[in-house]
Amino acid sequence: MNESENLNEQMLDKSTMTSFDHIIINANIATFSAQHGFGIETKDDENKQADSIPYGQLEHAAIGIKDGKIAWLGVHEQIATHLPHYQENKVTDADDKWLTPGLIDCHTHIVYGGNRSNEFEARLQGASYQDIAAQGGGIVATVSATREASIETLFAQSEKRLVALIKEGVTSIEIKSGYGLDLDTERKMLTVARQLGEKHGIHVSTTYLAAHALPPEYKSHMQDRADDYIEQVCEWLPILHSEGLVDAVDGFCENIAFSSDQIRRVFEVARSLDLPVKLHSEQLSDIGGSALVAEYKGLSSDHLEHLSETDIEKMAASNTVAVILPGAFYTLRDTKLPPIEALRKHRVPMAISTDCNPGTSPLTSLLLTMNMGCTLFYLTPEEVLAGSTVYAAQALGLFNKGKIEVGCDADLALWDIARPADLAYQMGLNPIQGIMVQGQWHETI
Ligand code: NIG
Ligand code: FE
Repeated sequence: MNESENLNEQMLDKSTMTSFDHIIINANIATFSAQHGFGIETKDDENKQADSIPYGQLEHAAIGIKDGKIAWLGVHEQIATHLPHYQENKVTDADDKWLTPGLIDCHTHIVYGGNRSNEFEARLQGASYQDIAAQGGGIVATVSATREASIETLFAQSEKRLVALIKEGVTSIEIKSGYGLDLDTERKMLTVARQLGEKHGIHVSTTYLAAHALPPEYKSHMQDRADDYIEQVCEWLPILHSEGLVDAVDGFCENIAFSSDQIRRVFEVARSLDLPVKLHSEQLSDIGGSALVAEYKGLSSDHLEHLSETDIEKMAASNTVAVILPGAFYTLRDTKLPPIEALRKHRVPMAISTDCNPGTSPLTSLLLTMNMGCTLFYLTPEEVLAGSTVYAAQALGLFNKGKIEVGCDADLALWDIARPADLAYQMGLNPIQGIMVQGQWHETI
């Protein structure tokens, strides 16, 4: 390069640097980006540690943001020389605190009516989740309350749960239907999910979960009409999709819910609409849910306590994320651990999520979920943080979120912590300092 080319490059650098809408300086950054060493693996497994950089961390760094995206990422000193060109309101001094990608809660049922603390009391007296479901409680109890709630009431009740999550750093969330089980109430739930995203300015991915439980009107003394209900589920999906309410399709594949053959029918309709699928699988038994998801190249298979190694291999081949839900395991006092070591061995990406729902996981803290993931399932702090950022994004098919790298959305969380592991270590202390969504600091915090 001759001298004049060199000069041009410097001038270009300067004008690029000073054109940012916002800059964040003096930050320690957990990027979760392979470009910054996160999760890099050499061919030689023994040397793996040597190459990967924990959390993809960059210390004493800075970020330039333009048009809601990360436009530049580098060492603080590089941008510091340009500081006099920035107005005060364009600069955030992170004061050596930690930035992570905005957290992503990739499996929730936060939109529901009523509450099931009565079942919590019953379980404490010995009733099981399956007993309660068989006696007409469980999911169908929430279905009645959700059907009865007006859209305004449903919004107001669900908003409290969303705000609790946002206040702990969540900038993207998945919200499922599945407590309506009729066309109008499924529509009402998905509409509330969309409205929540709009009002709070965070990303909401909606998931159609009408195949969650058999509604009471399809049960009779003689014979349950599960196949008839599944036919309805298949008919409603294109309608709600045409109304712009569905981003993905889910089901509950379990002895107390639907068989893999029944779920397959719903997945066929999803495929015809080009919608991605995911599934509640292998939570209470192994009836082939994850194998089905893998066959449809699904985004994620979720719960997984009873997942077999054969099906783990299928998930690895289809690049399906394993979504681990410690809140449900904890609430149900489950004892069967999900096969974490085998998932690691086969390099299946693992996400974690609150599974916030009124029955098995009345949990609105992704930070506590991280702690549970470590304490109950022996996940590492790096794994649970990756599981609520980069792999949670993958579980939602959001490839421009969940990591801090040039070109990605500027969705960030700023934390007053000494090390990233503090987020999984502390219980009940919220070290959030602020969240940024697509380049704008958010006002909820
Ligand atoms: O993710 N497993 C099925 N669905 C929910 C539970 C819903 C409920 O009990 O209301 C879950 O655990
Ligand atoms: Fe769930």
